[in-house]
Amino acid sequence: MSDLFDSQGGQISLGKKVGSGGEGAVYEVPSLEHGIVAKVYHEHVSHEKQAKLRAMAGGCDESLRSIAAWPLRTLHADRGGPIRGFLMPKMAGHEPIHHLYGPSHRKQSFPEKDWTFLINAARNTAAAFTVIHSHGHVIGDVNPNLVFVAPNSFVKLIDCDSFQIVAGGKNFLCEVGVPHFTPPELQKYTSFKGIRRTPNHDNFGLALLIFHLLLMGRHPFSGVFRGKGDMPIEKAIAELRYEIGRA
Ligand SMILES: Nc1ncnc2c1ncn2[C@@H]1O[C@H](COP(=O)(O)OP(=O)(O)OP(=O)(O)O)[C@@H](O)[C@H]1O
Ligand SMILES: [Mg+2]
Repeated sequence: MSDLFDSQGGQISLGKKVGSGGEGAVYEVPSLEHGIVAKVYHEHVSHEKQAKLRAMAGGCDESLRSIAAWPLRTLHADRGGPIRGFLMPKMAGHEPIHHLYGPSHRKQSFPEKDWTFLINAARNTAAAFTVIHSHGHVIGDVNPNLVFVAPNSFVKLIDCDSFQIVAGGKNFLCEVGVPHFTPPELQKYTSFKGIRRTPNHDNFGLALLIFHLLLMGRHPFSGVFRGKGDMPIEKAIAELRYEIGRA
C-alpha cells in the first residue's frame, strides 16, 4: 500500500495490519504518536461517506475519544484528494466483549475476573452508549464486535464510521445491522438503507449485551421451541418470545 496523506497534508506511512473487516483494514502508523492507527477502506468511498467522515473528525471531542475509536483525521491518496480512510485511537490490550462473556474465551482472556468485573464492564458499556447518545448520535449496528474491554473494565467502541451521525442538521444514517441484535420493531426490514435509528433501538442491543455478560453468553431470545418448525433468534425477537420472564 503506497503512502497516504492526512487532512493537513502530512505524509502517513502504514505499518503492520492489526485487523480487517468487510469495509476496511486497520494498520499501525509507526511514524505517529503511539496509540494511533489508520483504517483504510477496501473500496472507493462514496461522497456521502466522505462528508460523514469529515463531520465525524470535525466533531471529535475528549468525551468521544475516551470511549470510542472515533475518527480523528481523514486520510487521502493525494494531498486534498478523495478520502481513503481515517486515523483513530488504537485499542491496545483490549479484547472484544464476547471474549469476556463466552466462558471458554473468558478463561483465556480474563482468567482472574469475577462478578464485580462483569458488572463494571456492563456499567461502562452503558456509560459509553450514553456518551454517544448525548451527542445526538446513534450506534445503530450494535453487535458483539462493537465493544472492546480493557483489563481495568473500561470499554471502547469500534467501527464508529458505521454509526448514525448528526452534523449540521443532517443525519448520516447507519445502513447496517445484525438480525440477532435488531429490536422487534425493526425486524420487518430486510435492509437498513434509509432507516433512521433512535437511541432506544441501541438500548435493545445494550440490554442484550448486558444479558450476555451476566448469563455467560446466553441470548435472551434463544431457547427450545416447542412448536412446529424452526424458531431462529431473529424470529423469536420479532414475536417477542422472551421466555425467561414468563411465569
Ligand atoms: N481502533 C482500533 N485499534 C485497534 N484495532 C482496531 C481498531 N479498530 C478496529 N480494529 C481491528 O480491526 C478490525 C476491523 O475493524 P472494523 O470493524 O472497523 O472494520 P470494518 O471493515 O468496518 O468491519 P465490519 O465490516 O465488520 O463493519 C476489528 O475487528 C479490530 O480487530
Ligand atoms: Mg464497519
